[in-house]
Amino acid sequence: MPDETAKFLASQYPILLTAEQIQAKVKELARQLSADYAGKCPVFIGVLNGSFMFCADLLRQITIDCEIDFIKISSYGEAMRTSGVVKVRKEINCHIEGRHVLVVEDIIDSGLSVMFLEKKMREMKPQSLKFVSLLVKEGAAQVEYPCDYVGFRIPNRFVVGYGLDYAQKLRNLPAIYVMD
Ligand code: IMP
Ligand code: MG
Repeated sequence: MPDETAKFLASQYPILLTAEQIQAKVKELARQLSADYAGKCPVFIGVLNGSFMFCADLLRQITIDCEIDFIKISSYGEAMRTSGVVKVRKEINCHIEGRHVLVVEDIIDSGLSVMFLEKKMREMKPQSLKFVSLLVKEGAAQVEYPCDYVGFRIPNRFVVGYGLDYAQKLRNLPAIYVMD
């Protein structure tokens, strides 16, 4: 990658979602989740690294009692396509047996990560298990996967910013850009 800043690079790419559009959607999702989980004290499980920014913004808008923990998985390496093999890099540290669990993803592409997480989480016997994803790529699914709360359905393109990376960079951008 040349020696420019991430912001300069991003200005070379078409914008897909502005920071304002993202924040409005995050508020809407938080309102919905706060209503649906009132009195249930859900445990949010953020999927690192991509969802760190979405999680932080979402949780600030949640108005009910809740907890948060993180799991770290990887399947992309430095590539723009999934390798198909999902590896756990960091396990969760909380007990989710009998709890209401909400897994928070940045984006669902092939669906392999979500499928992997669903199987893994179910083994820990939560009372309920649902998935929240800021973005879902249209027409990219390789498997049928669960997703209960979706921010935006986007075209099948490679996107960066707002937590999403290309080779670990550009996560710091407040908006989302198309890169391919
Ligand atoms: P899946 O397993 O193919 O559904 O991919 C899920 C994970 O791959 C996401 O949580 C992201 O971390 C990453 N990913 C998928 N599409 C993109 C993209 O367009 N840009 C950056 N990361 C992506
Ligand atoms: Mg991810």
